[in-house]
Amino acid sequence: MANLIFPSDFEWGAATAAYQIEGAAAEDGKGKSIWDTFTHQKGNILNNDTGDIACDHYHRYQEDIALMKEIGLDTYRFSISWPRVLPAGKGKVNQKGIDFYKRLVNQLLEAGIKPAATLYHWDLPEQLQLKGGWENRDTIYYFQEYAELMYSELGDLVPRWITHNEPFVVSMVGNLFGEHAPGYQDYNKALQVAHNLLVSHGLAVDSFRESGIKGEIGITLNLNHVYAKTDSKEDQQAKDYCDAFNNRWFLDPVFKAKYPTKLLALYQDKFGGFEIETGDMEIISREIDFLGINYYSRAVVEYAEDELLKHKTIKPEQAIYTAMNWEVYPDGLRDLLIRLNKEYTDKEIFITENGAAFADQLAADGQVHDQPRVDYLREHFKAAYQAIEAGVPLAGYYVWSLLDNFEWAFGYSKRFGIIHVDYQNQQQRTLKDSAKMFKQVIADNGLTD
Ligand code: BGC
Repeated sequence: MANLIFPSDFEWGAATAAYQIEGAAAEDGKGKSIWDTFTHQKGNILNNDTGDIACDHYHRYQEDIALMKEIGLDTYRFSISWPRVLPAGKGKVNQKGIDFYKRLVNQLLEAGIKPAATLYHWDLPEQLQLKGGWENRDTIYYFQEYAELMYSELGDLVPRWITHNEPFVVSMVGNLFGEHAPGYQDYNKALQVAHNLLVSHGLAVDSFRESGIKGEIGITLNLNHVYAKTDSKEDQQAKDYCDAFNNRWFLDPVFKAKYPTKLLALYQDKFGGFEIETGDMEIISREIDFLGINYYSRAVVEYAEDELLKHKTIKPEQAIYTAMNWEVYPDGLRDLLIRLNKEYTDKEIFITENGAAFADQLAADGQVHDQPRVDYLREHFKAAYQAIEAGVPLAGYYVWSLLDNFEWAFGYSKRFGIIHVDYQNQQQRTLKDSAKMFKQVIADNGLTD
């Protein structure tokens, strides 16, 4: 392999989310989120795990920052827990919550690590859910107020902001598939939630511009490149539907101020549609500074007559699968990046999440030899490099995740971290082989022989 050296200003980082790592679920005045409620209802989460303690990062953030420094991260992406700073979602501010994020951000800066803050990584204040949650249009404006609070508290310290993490997952997995909080299975609800999330994104961008703070703002979408099983007309149609449902439903409004026509017509016909107010599409499509994408795998689909969206996902044989049963397919990352640049944006793109869960174990030598993750990451770095070579303005890459953590419906059973967390043994952290490999990649700014 020839050396693959990335652009000199390329940023290497790692990502986490508040509910997945912080713990301290009821400490220092934090309000409840929908995830606190959902995890405490028996049967929702594997082994009935909760994020009550998680990685105890709320108390161990200094140790975690020291580990980030040891790996050599340029940047760290974390999320702010809305109910930690606004326990009821609006109104009274919890100063202790604000202080925590200030301490975190200041220490990151001291360590020479650029903070990137996500405003919403799924932990809606429970009090707002009781008023209808994201389905209620008022939540859009409460989100804007919360964003404004954070800009004014942290705006001079945080140079990169992400409004939402994965509106697809929030709307569809939480409100259509029912696997995530708040746990509904209702198409109308899911569509309204998706729309309201996008409007709230646009308003948070407006407030960011008005605040005059320096820095950049964007949104993170989870996208998977879709491939048809065959070239047949039917399978191509299946691919088109799947892409519209997963990807274009979010990309088109943000970049083109419209929903995919065919799918919108189908939804209107089938479910009577959802409320779009005058001016919403303009708000959603406000200019952003970068696009964040989370990429884990691709989708391969074939035509399915009986499905509403005419497709069914298939699992290619002879592929490697992660512990999530997701196919390892690095070329999909390259293809996706090239497509986004060609069809949607010539702005900077960040890979805000990429990584894999494997059944890691602490070995007798006290180390974690996670060779499958080392291979996964290196292959995805190569794909990212190829996209840059093809002209994509890819500006950075955040590995998911810094730490093993609470993996939503799967609880602690899935480990995505490049740092192992021993939950049974005082939360002890151990750099896995993948973290050591990443350290070398960062030091070399790429892959060397
Ligand atoms: C989310 C993370 C999650 C990861 C792995 C993404 O959907 O943003 O919170 O842990 O994927 O499932």
